[in-house]
Amino acid sequence: MTLNPKLSKLLNEQINNELSSSYIYLAMAAWFEQTPYSGFAQWMFTQSREENMHALKFYQYVVDRDAKVELQPVAKPKASFKSPLDVFEHSLRQEQEVTRQINVLFEVAEQVKDHAAKNLLLWFLNEQMEEEKTVREMLERLKLAGNDPASLLVLDREAGSRKGSGGSTTGGAGA
Ligand SMILES: [Fe+2]
Ligand SMILES: [Fe+2]
Repeated sequence: MTLNPKLSKLLNEQINNELSSSYIYLAMAAWFEQTPYSGFAQWMFTQSREENMHALKFYQYVVDRDAKVELQPVAKPKASFKSPLDVFEHSLRQEQEVTRQINVLFEVAEQVKDHAAKNLLLWFLNEQMEEEKTVREMLERLKLAGNDPASLLVLDREAGSRKGSGGSTTGGAGA
């Protein structure tokens, strides 16, 4: 089945959106590297790699569907933040935006009756649910910790022990 042109365009845009995400998380990792929070830096670095895998998963899908890959420039990410809480608030908004993008993609796949694409996008919708949940949970605990250095360091240590999410490492399509 030939890939619908509108769907193909949106899938190409999503390669860029995921790479932008990866870049945003890398900038967050770099910001944390300048603070005592090495655990949060590690978390953001891991997240950056996962977003890169997402981009490659979309890339591979476009290739597998025999459609043309068209890469675009990746925007410069925000580089300065006020606090760990501020970073995670940006992260949650970022994930919510990606969830919105994937929902749009799913709706278009549905309109053009591309069930194979819907299958890929369902995997991503699931992944988004997980990512939003993980970020939201950390955000809530950061709010509880407030400005207490001891509590923040406990959360930092926990963030540093985070492994890559199961969904992203076992999701197939070369991921
Ligand atoms: Fe992603
Ligand atoms: Fe994400």
